[in-house]
Amino acid sequence: MSQVTTGVQLGEADAVRASVSKYYGETLQASSDLKTSACCTAKAPPADVLALLRQLPQEIVQKYYGCGSPFPAGLKGSGLRVLDLGCGSGRDCYVCAALVGEKGFVTGLDMTPAQLQVAQRHSEAWQQQLGYAAPNMRFLQGRIEELAAAGITPGSIDLIISNCVINLSADKAAVLREAYAALADGGEVFFSDVYCDRRLPENARSHEVLLGECLGGALAVNDFLRLAHSVGFADPRVLEVAPIAVHDDELKSLLGEAAFYSITFRLFKLPGQLEPLPEEDYGQTATYNGTLPGCEASYALDATHSFQKGQAVAVSGNTAAMLSSSWLKPHFTVTEDTSRHLGQFAGSSSSSSTLSAAVSYLPLRSSHVHGG
Ligand SMILES: C[S@@+](CC[C@H](N)C(=O)[O-])C[C@H]1O[C@@H](n2cnc3c(N)ncnc32)[C@H](O)[C@@H]1O
Repeated sequence: MSQVTTGVQLGEADAVRASVSKYYGETLQASSDLKTSACCTAKAPPADVLALLRQLPQEIVQKYYGCGSPFPAGLKGSGLRVLDLGCGSGRDCYVCAALVGEKGFVTGLDMTPAQLQVAQRHSEAWQQQLGYAAPNMRFLQGRIEELAAAGITPGSIDLIISNCVINLSADKAAVLREAYAALADGGEVFFSDVYCDRRLPENARSHEVLLGECLGGALAVNDFLRLAHSVGFADPRVLEVAPIAVHDDELKSLLGEAAFYSITFRLFKLPGQLEPLPEEDYGQTATYNGTLPGCEASYALDATHSFQKGQAVAVSGNTAAMLSSSWLKPHFTVTEDTSRHLGQFAGSSSSSSTLSAAVSYLPLRSSHVHGG
């Protein structure tokens, strides 16, 4: 069986970074140069995001290599402090800068100077276009495995986003550890990345094009869930899953039967421990107040938890914690009575059920989608 590749030797990590940086800084000139659909968003983004994308400078859109839509619904005017891991040419930072409003702030971090130069080039004009008195966006050069060293103060970020980047890191454990440390209590990582239904063999993991196109470094979903648990993100939630097609015959023969998909995950850093599975039922309920902009009628926390305005829903302790201890708190009324234990929570609550539900239409064997 292959080794789990979540951490590597320093020399190897440097070689991976050099190869990836060359790929995004020199080899690729535009999204049309990609050889697979891995770095390519399949689904149309929500209407408010789409409207902003239409206003972005061409150069930024041309050098976009993301695989998903890493924007939680209801961000508009939230004033959140956002960090984009591997921001590339900055497309998602520009969108977030508009969504969070003038009181929010967005930091884009990337290691590739050529991509950062594009991001920086249009920044001032974008702030003017948004009508902001002061810039609410900055771009830093640095590694996503070393956020503090790159200038990100621990506990200073409300929302970390990332689009098709973490798979490119040779030390994914370090990325998640640093992300956890960078978040304030109640913060979350909301990100899209490429995952595989199995652990890939060494010749696929080290192949320059497969690595550069976000397939070679893709983690098996279960390995990612274990890693997330180990750094403190106890109950990862899935928003969206989209299959990824590989058309190139040479690449296909290297990959064999492996199936890839882009998954959007949401990982909350909550004060106190989330409950290990199975969860207990203390009669918790959550009622959505209908106050998140653009989501007045209902709000989807993840693929299996949707809340209609004004309707109390029985939720697990973990879901209750996500809704009452994160930036979503003002928008939900959560009740619980810890003096009255009702047995094991029977509803859809865990990362396992969320993940199984989200990927159930994909050709995965059930043993591949348990969440631990
Ligand atoms: C697939 S592109 C995605 C860029 C951007 N998120 C987007 O959606 O267009 C990957 C980006 O991650 C950056 N990157 C990869 N590994 C990195 C690392 N270890 N530290 C910092 N940036 C990294 C690359 O330089 C590149 O710009």
